[in-house]
Amino acid sequence: MDETERDMFDTMTMTKAGAAVIGALLFFLLGSWAADSLYSTEAGGHGGEDGHTETGYMIATETDGDAAEEEEEAVPFADLLAAADPAKGEKVWGKCRACHKLEDGANGTGPHLYGIVDRQIANVADFNYSDALAGLDGSWTADELNEWLANPKAYAPGNKMTYAGLKKEEDRANLIAYLQTIGG
Ligand code: HEC
Repeated sequence: MDETERDMFDTMTMTKAGAAVIGALLFFLLGSWAADSLYSTEAGGHGGEDGHTETGYMIATETDGDAAEEEEEAVPFADLLAAADPAKGEKVWGKCRACHKLEDGANGTGPHLYGIVDRQIANVADFNYSDALAGLDGSWTADELNEWLANPKAYAPGNKMTYAGLKKEEDRANLIAYLQTIGG
């Protein structure tokens, strides 16, 4: 190697080394930038999850609240009934009238419901009840009606009242309060 070659070599070495250093630096910078942005995305994700968790907690708390409320309501249905509004119940009755009439003896798809509150279960002589209903003892007290109307299928499996049920206890209370005003 002569002087010129050595210089060139040195220059090239320096250049390569420099490039390597810069490359490494860039790589490092890019790497840490990528890591940062990944991290912040993750952090965002976590934030979101935390939000969800919070929402979850809130829902859980609300559900607990509802459950507690329902338990409270379930015990004194009589109280709910005492405070019920027959006029509102008459509107709820609209969901029943396709199959039931309130006039004594007037059967439709379902038996007439004249004086249904405290009437004996499956006691309309000329109505052809299902075995599921005919097999039940007792009478339609407000509590029994409340249970039946919440979920007829569960109350008497195999009965032929094809009605899903009134989900809101308040609706049931209002409706039963209305039915109490009809005959009986
Ligand atoms: C799709 C028609 C239909 C609808 C809607 C319907 N019912 Fe009925 N319901 C029937 C039938 C049919 C029976 C007889 C069930 C059986 O024999 O298994 C019945 C039975 C009953 C009984 C028992 C009567 C008895 O003599 O023991 C009550 C109480 C009653 N329904 C109340 C209601 C009320 C209140 C609503 C409205 C919230 C309602 N039903 C909506 C068809 C219906």
